[in-house]
Amino acid sequence: MKIRKFKSKDGKEVSKIMIAAFKSFLGDKFDRLDLKSFSPQVLKKISNTESYDGEVVSYVAEEKGKILGYIRGSAHMNGLGSSEVVGVDTSSFHKGVGTKLMKKLEKFWKSKKQRKISTCVSAHNKRALIYYLKNGFIPEGYRKDHFKVGVDEIILGRFL
Ligand SMILES: CC(C)(COP(=O)(O)OP(=O)(O)OC[C@H]1O[C@@H](n2cnc3c(N)ncnc32)[C@H](O)[C@@H]1OP(=O)(O)O)[C@@H](O)C(=O)NCCC(=O)NCCS
Repeated sequence: MKIRKFKSKDGKEVSKIMIAAFKSFLGDKFDRLDLKSFSPQVLKKISNTESYDGEVVSYVAEEKGKILGYIRGSAHMNGLGSSEVVGVDTSSFHKGVGTKLMKKLEKFWKSKKQRKISTCVSAHNKRALIYYLKNGFIPEGYRKDHFKVGVDEIILGRFL
């Protein structure tokens, strides 16, 4: 399996993977906004960008020409990076794909001299919570009904 930068041509394949991955824990809470944020067009637009104060980068895990997962994160001038989103093909869960993607993002953060990384995870999403804890994140707070009514978020932080 190799980890490489997301390219525009990956949009469709990544879109399918992310929609299925997020439906796996959101169920009927997965809505039209989620669908839009994982559309090939939006993924192409936001996956690799640069601005005056930072950079967003995205990677995919690929095996035998098939994409198995996607991760997106950012680095900022102030040293505060973020892990924005991660999703793995549901048939490849718990095989180390997510961890490999996170390790690649870690290299990016370190190359950009980031001091701290922030993210959040839906409180009921145990699989992802354990994944983040295993990858060095520590709970820092709790937000009720945050992105959606009925879905709380655990705020996580990781010092590099
Ligand atoms: C969360 C997610 C990215 C993890 O990726 P993954 O490739 O399945 O995870 P890995 O195989 O690298 O596992 C890393 C650790 O996560 C935990 N984990 C992964 N799958 C798990 C499961 N089914 N049950 C419990 N813990 C699990 C384990 O601690 C695991 O370490 P271990 O292998 O030593 O037991 C993936 O399951 C996913 O895409 N989920 C749906 C989308 C999502 O929840 N995204 C995160 C919110 S942004």
